Amino acid sequence: MSRVHKLSLGLLMAAVAWQVAGNAIDTAMAQDAGAEGTESGMAPAAQTDPLIERGRYVATASNCVSCHSAPSKDAFAGGVAFVTDFGTIYSTNITSDPAAGIGSWTFEQFTRAMREGIDAEGEHLYPAFPYPSFAKITDDDLTALYAYLKTIPASPAKPPENEMGFPFNQRGLMAVWNTLFFDGAPFQADSTKSEAWNRGAYLVEGLGHCGACHTPRNFLGAEDNGKALAGSVLQDKVVSGQIRRWAASNLTQAKSGLAAWTEDDIFAYLKTGHSARAGTFGPMDEVIGNSTMRLTDDDARAMAVYLKDLAPIETSSAHELSTDEKRRGDTLYSIHCGTCHLPTGLGATPGSELGPPLAGSAVVQAADPSSLINNILYGTKKPVELTSPSGWQNMKPLGNTLRDEEVAAIATFVRGSWGNLGGPVTADQVAKQR
Ligand code: HEC
Ligand code: HEC
Ligand code: HEC
Repeated sequence: MSRVHKLSLGLLMAAVAWQVAGNAIDTAMAQDAGAEGTESGMAPAAQTDPLIERGRYVATASNCVSCHSAPSKDAFAGGVAFVTDFGTIYSTNITSDPAAGIGSWTFEQFTRAMREGIDAEGEHLYPAFPYPSFAKITDDDLTALYAYLKTIPASPAKPPENEMGFPFNQRGLMAVWNTLFFDGAPFQADSTKSEAWNRGAYLVEGLGHCGACHTPRNFLGAEDNGKALAGSVLQDKVVSGQIRRWAASNLTQAKSGLAAWTEDDIFAYLKTGHSARAGTFGPMDEVIGNSTMRLTDDDARAMAVYLKDLAPIETSSAHELSTDEKRRGDTLYSIHCGTCHLPTGLGATPGSELGPPLAGSAVVQAADPSSLINNILYGTKKPVELTSPSGWQNMKPLGNTLRDEEVAAIATFVRGSWGNLGGPVTADQVAKQR
């Protein structure tokens, strides 16, 4: 804590103001919802240098492209907006351009940014850039990543100025934040676990930074490690510039998490975008399309092994439906959902015309119902590479068919049926997602 004492009172006051200003820094992904062509931002033509190839793979597993490539701009040229409770932050240009990008950065400067969140000028970076996860990247992976980034064609593009008011525009504040919340510890293998488990831990906690979306954040926007991967909320800027709230599912083995998923289900979902349990939609489309589906089978399997072994952290509770909720919900469900998800909520199998199980679904049972509401209002719009005859078809949007009260009644019904957990949903919550 010694660094705190050296900091001026002003910074500490600012830290307090930060606390007052909001609950959670929602890592906000600003890719277009259902972004067309997750390929568009991918790195240039094949290289054969093994170091560069390894770096390309590290970049893929870390999904640098989703955060640093804005639609219709140069790959890795930045400008993607991240909406937080503290203001909007734009990702930077990380192409090899010496002025606009990081082409003139030394390996030491690059390492400091990735592991400590400090840029070449010594300025603190915001944790919308997931350096708390990247601090776990091994030396070898970092060396390869640096070599690979040198091959990215230079782009002169400059990201827009951040839109952050005082005091959050004071990057020095992050020194306090880092002292309080950032340990920067390298990845520690657990010798009591298998090699696959350890590889999975490295990929999930380090490169894949799954916790950036799936771990809840405290009032200062730091990941709450006591609830690692137990589900969180994020804000996503959609095409129109409108902000849409999403719940990132509980990935632990809780009932409202992935308890119903087998290791094979998790593997298939990460590798193809669908499993017997669910198909991808919303923010996961880019995570899978740009990153996990491009990993080796061994690596996707390792992530599944690790996730399947996470101790359950339950975040949802049971709500017993009233007679009214049951009657109205059941009727609306039968008319609008039951044909595909079946009256039993048990759904069908992928490749059919029907839909996945809602009984045991992590999306249905999430503590925050935003993703369930989005699913009903906007349906799913998977990019082409994630559609396949053996997967689920897209679900059509029902936002124009159903009124807010009806969506709320159906959502309440599916959360309160078939042994699912999850509290009632109000028309107000639905209206906020429009
Ligand atoms: C979850 C989104 C996200 C991911 C994933 C991500 N970045 Fe970033 N990155 C950002 C944001 C946002 C900033 C700007 C932070 C700021 O201005 O404080 C940033 C800043 C940086 C910077 C500082 C550049 C500068 O000019 O100051 C570097 C270097 C960087 N990222 C490299 C990478 C690399 C390499 C990867 C993949 C291994 C990566 N990032 C993945 C969001 C991301
Ligand atoms: C940009 C934010 C973000 C990141 C990063 C992210 N997720 Fe997700 N994830 C979500 C959201 C939001 C949902 C729920 C809605 C949906 O499917 O998009 C979700 C859902 C899931 C689901 C459950 C799907 C279902 O239908 O029940 C799994 C499994 C999952 N994510 C795994 C991962 C893994 C593994 C990683 C790391 C490689 C990861 N996610 C990284 C946002 C994210
Ligand atoms: C015409 C068939 C059809 C109808 C009607 C339908 N769905 Fe779906 N639903 C699907 C399909 C197919 C998917 C998988 C989409 C994907 O993979 O992107 C899906 C996915 C879902 C999911 C995501 C599950 C998960 O765990 O990821 C939820 C929740 C859901 N539907 C709820 C509903 C509700 C509630 C209704 C009624 C308001 C409804 N659906 C109506 C076909 C349908």
